Amino acid sequence: MPDPVVLEGTSTISESRGRVLVVDDEADIRESLETLLSLEGYSVDLAQNAGEGLHKMESRTYDLVLLDLMMPDRSGMDVLREVRERDHDTPIFMITAYGSVEAAVNALKLGANDYFSKPWDNEKLLIEIERMIARRRLEFENRSLKRALKQRYSFPNIIGKSERMLRVLDLVTQVAPSRSTILISGETGTGKELIAKAIHANSPRAEQMFVPVNCGSLPPELLESTLFGHVKGAFTSALQSRKGYFEIANKGTIFFDEIGTVGPEIQAKLLRVIQEREFMPLGSSEVIKVDVRILAATNADLKRLVDEGKFREDLYYRLNVINLSLPPLRDRKEDIPLLIDHFFAKYCRENEKFLDASNRSVLKFAPDALQILMDHNWPGNVRELENAVERAVVLASEPVVPLDVLPEQILQAGGIRVRQRDGGPLPPDASLFEIVADFERRVIIEHLEQANWSQTEAADNLRVPLSTLNQKIKRLAIEIRRKSEHAR
Ligand SMILES: Nc1ncnc2c1ncn2[C@@H]1O[C@H](COP(=O)(O)OP(=O)(O)OP(=O)(O)O)[C@@H](O)[C@H]1O
Ligand SMILES: [Mg+2]
Repeated sequence: MPDPVVLEGTSTISESRGRVLVVDDEADIRESLETLLSLEGYSVDLAQNAGEGLHKMESRTYDLVLLDLMMPDRSGMDVLREVRERDHDTPIFMITAYGSVEAAVNALKLGANDYFSKPWDNEKLLIEIERMIARRRLEFENRSLKRALKQRYSFPNIIGKSERMLRVLDLVTQVAPSRSTILISGETGTGKELIAKAIHANSPRAEQMFVPVNCGSLPPELLESTLFGHVKGAFTSALQSRKGYFEIANKGTIFFDEIGTVGPEIQAKLLRVIQEREFMPLGSSEVIKVDVRILAATNADLKRLVDEGKFREDLYYRLNVINLSLPPLRDRKEDIPLLIDHFFAKYCRENEKFLDASNRSVLKFAPDALQILMDHNWPGNVRELENAVERAVVLASEPVVPLDVLPEQILQAGGIRVRQRDGGPLPPDASLFEIVADFERRVIIEHLEQANWSQTEAADNLRVPLSTLNQKIKRLAIEIRRKSEHAR
């Protein structure tokens, strides 16, 4: 029986009728259930005690678990309780030789889905198992469908179908409509600003201003007046009064990017605005009330900054009412191909290149290039991937993008040696791709020289479009000499 595809944290979609775990200390019972279920087309795993059963349930997802009530190491009730604490979904049928109504009721109360006493009726058991699994699959598919629908409508530019990304988007959907403050954390380039905008766009404030403040790039004196505004004469260069971002964002959303870089004075002032929703512009004694939703982002570990005494604990808790933590790209690699397609389409449209009749991009990476991208560790996350794809669109001269168009740091990280492109001799162990690139380079230089460095003429002689030659020149880093220079 082929192993089912396990979708992280959710359900098992198997080619078999489903995967069932039998947890029972009696070998006879395990064997008879295994035979019965296997003959019906189920994949069956066996556990001979509670500990083994729990371990198996932790390491994979089952469509259904048959759980014995009486086992020597721990009772089935205990197991049931523990499983239900972390997993509400997996259907569990209890089995016992000591069928008492009381035990049945208790098991159902604790979240078991059904109850069978030994000796049970095989036919009935099979029907209930089949029914249960079918219902679960339907629920699962429905949930996925709802998610897909919701996402298509609410997050047109956020790409990701990995379980971790879907969980983030579920949470965004839940929290967007409220006014609660949200702290978005994640490594650089994971999409924190994108998510902040999505929260705003899906909130009742969507029509109002979204005001991003890059706290890291403003010196403290400027940050204060930028946020709170100032009146004329508040400081030497304040020739007229100016509204701060808080006032501009009134009824809308303000987004503090790199909140961890804010100094202690501003931290104190921010705390006050968050608590009181009011502030005073610099040099003014007038209190201004605002209705702003506050979002903040950090790629530093803000809790650690608190522990180190660099960030106010009270402000941290005010900001961190809801925490949205964005997964690094290396932890959701199944999203890489989707992101590549998305960015190909985006940059092909921008560059008006490689588009088919319906304006869709026809670019794709060669298999070896895609493999390198899938294996890469992505320290710069989605931004790094986006840059690599944009570069590929600019440099590509044919619809299948070859390996050597990838940025050097990605090739190097993937163990591909990047040769100095100075036309020097090839190393004896050069790869095919290096040999081909070297040959292409020499041919092009030769033709350029023959054409007195006229690219149009060289392209003609090589019978390629000028744009193709142009891209190859860029990609192979061929240094173009000016015609006049050459003539001299
Ligand atoms: N899930 C995604 N789908 C599509 N594009 C994404 C996704 N995540 C990030 N991006 C794109 O990647 C780039 C970086 O994202 P963003 O600026 O939101 O990251 P960030 O977490 O704020 O980074 P930093 O910490 O460096 O400020 C942007 O161009 C953004 O549109
Ligand atoms: Mg950012």
